[in-house]
This record gives sequence, structure tokens and C-alpha cells, in this order.
Amino acid sequence: MLKIGFLGGGNMARAIVAGLVSSGADPKLVTVMDRHPEKLAALREQFGITTQEKPGDWITALDVVVLAVKPQGLKECCEQVASLVSPETTVLSIAAAVRADVIAEWLGTCRVVRCIPNTPSMVGKGFSGLFAGPRTTEDDRTRSQYVMQTVGDLVWVESEDDLHLVTAGPGSGPAYVFLFMEALADALVQEGLTPEKAKEFALSTVEGAAALARTSGEAFDVLRHNVTSKGGTTAKAIEAFEAHDLRGTVKAAVQACRARSKEMSELFS
Ligand SMILES: NC(=O)c1ccc[n+]([C@@H]2O[C@H](COP(=O)([O-])OP(=O)(O)OC[C@H]3O[C@@H](n4cnc5c(N)ncnc54)[C@H](OP(=O)(O)O)[C@@H]3O)[C@@H](O)[C@H]2O)c1
Repeated sequence: MLKIGFLGGGNMARAIVAGLVSSGADPKLVTVMDRHPEKLAALREQFGITTQEKPGDWITALDVVVLAVKPQGLKECCEQVASLVSPETTVLSIAAAVRADVIAEWLGTCRVVRCIPNTPSMVGKGFSGLFAGPRTTEDDRTRSQYVMQTVGDLVWVESEDDLHLVTAGPGSGPAYVFLFMEALADALVQEGLTPEKAKEFALSTVEGAAALARTSGEAFDVLRHNVTSKGGTTAKAIEAFEAHDLRGTVKAAVQACRARSKEMSELFS
């Protein structure tokens, strides 16, 4: 079994630890380092894992080290552990925006895999994009895949630039859907529904539509046509969406997100 260590014990680390433990990983072989003892105590209590407040020899013994701190703190964190990371260890970074070669330079190791996860990972329904840095091995891919598949589906991208698309799609996408649900619930409240019912209506709508699309395998436009009778109620709603340029709005959002992702990665070059 793999020895897996997390540098940073925040929300994403907790989600992946939960995935690993519920998939049968031995909690004693999972270590989380964080500077907040209360976070570590909660992780120990919930998952029975090992915790550390500081870097040490335990890092050298890891098969996989997951970099799970915010991008702004990543350089400092890498510098603290650089002399301890073994050349045999796979480095799996889940930090947004920081390129594999930059991390490799900070750590002095070349076995860096990058991953863009998303927040549904917290309930095992994540979707991650992974990129294996230029001097990684098959083992690095297998180990990284083992870790990330415990919190959902994943895709490997061949070019690191494609991670910007992962960010603009499934990475930030849950927030787009939350915004849509918020707007739908608000509109229903304005039409007279209670906030509780409006929330349930919006949630069930998105859950049901996603489940139908997944199960049927049909194209989205076919599914939409199936529920849109000419001159009917849905047709009127769709006309209103088109008149207010929903597609143009979504396109602008995706482009803005991708551009910001590129801009941020330049900041960390
Ligand atoms: N695509 C997505 O939807 C998505 C979602 C979530 C996260 N992510 C990525 O996942 C990464 C982790 O995010 P998160 O939300 O879990 O972050 P977080 O909640 O801030 O957790 C990071 C933890 O690590 C601690 N820490 C930072 N530097 C440390 C150091 N040198 N030594 C010890 N502890 C240290 C932090 O303490 P302090 O708070 O004191 O710094 C914090 O407790 C980020 O890089 C983010 O980009 C992506």
C-alpha cells in the first residue's frame, strides 16, 4: 500500500483523505501536515490518520506527496520540504495555476503531476483534470490516478495548457451551476414560492436533469427539444433565455475564467 502525505490540511485535503479512507486505504499510511493543530486533531479523530505539524524525515518515506496549500503559499511550503522529498516520490499538486516545471524547480525534483480538482470531490462526485509533467514515470501517473479516483472521475490532458480549460469547465463550473440554481430559486421566490421550496425546486431540477442526461446519453440539445413543445411553456422560457443571450453569457464566463487562469500561472512563473 502507498504511503501518502498531504502538505496542507484544508478542505481539499480533507476531501481526498475521506475518499482514500473510504476506498480502503490504510489510514495509518496517510499523513497530513498543517500548521493548525485543531485541523489536525479533527482529521485524526474523523479518519484515524497520522498528522504532523512540521516537515521531517516522514516526508522522505512517502510514495506520494500531495501539495494541498493555496497557490500563494506553495513556494514557501516547497522550500520548507525541498531537501526532504525523495527522488522516488511522486509529487501531486492540486494547487491552481502553478506550473509543473515551476514546482519541480522549487522542490528540486522532476516527478511532478498537476491536478485540477473541483469541489464536488468533497462528496465523491468530483471531476479532476491531470497533467503529468515532462519527466514523470508511469508509476507517477498510476499513483496520482489512484489518489484522485477516490473522489470522482478524472481525465488526463496531454498539454499543460489544457488545464486552463479544465479550470474553466469542471474546475470552476460548479460555481456556474450554483449561480444558475440561485437565480432560478430567486426568480421562483419573486413569483411567490417560499425560499425553502424554491431551493428544493432548483436543486431537484439540476439533479434530475443531470441524471437524465447521464443515463440517456442523449445530446443536450436533443434532451432540450424533447421537453420543448412548439408554442408551449418551456418554449417560452427558452425563447427568453435566448433573447437574453444565455449562450453568449456562458461563453464570456468561460473565456474570462480561462484568461484569468493563464494570467495567474504567469504570476507564478
Ligand atoms: N478547482 C477547485 O475547485 C479547487 C477547489 C479547492 C481547492 N483547490 C486547490 O486546492 C488547494 C488547497 O485548497 P484548500 O481550499 O483546501 O486550501 P486551504 O483550506 O487554505 O488549506 C490549506 C491548509 O494548509 C495550511 N498551510 C499552508 N501552508 C502551510 C505550510 N507551509 N505548512 C503547514 N501548513 C500550511 C493552511 O494554513 P493557513 O490557512 O494558515 O495558510 C491551511 O490550513 C489550493 O491550491 C486550491 O487551488 C481547487
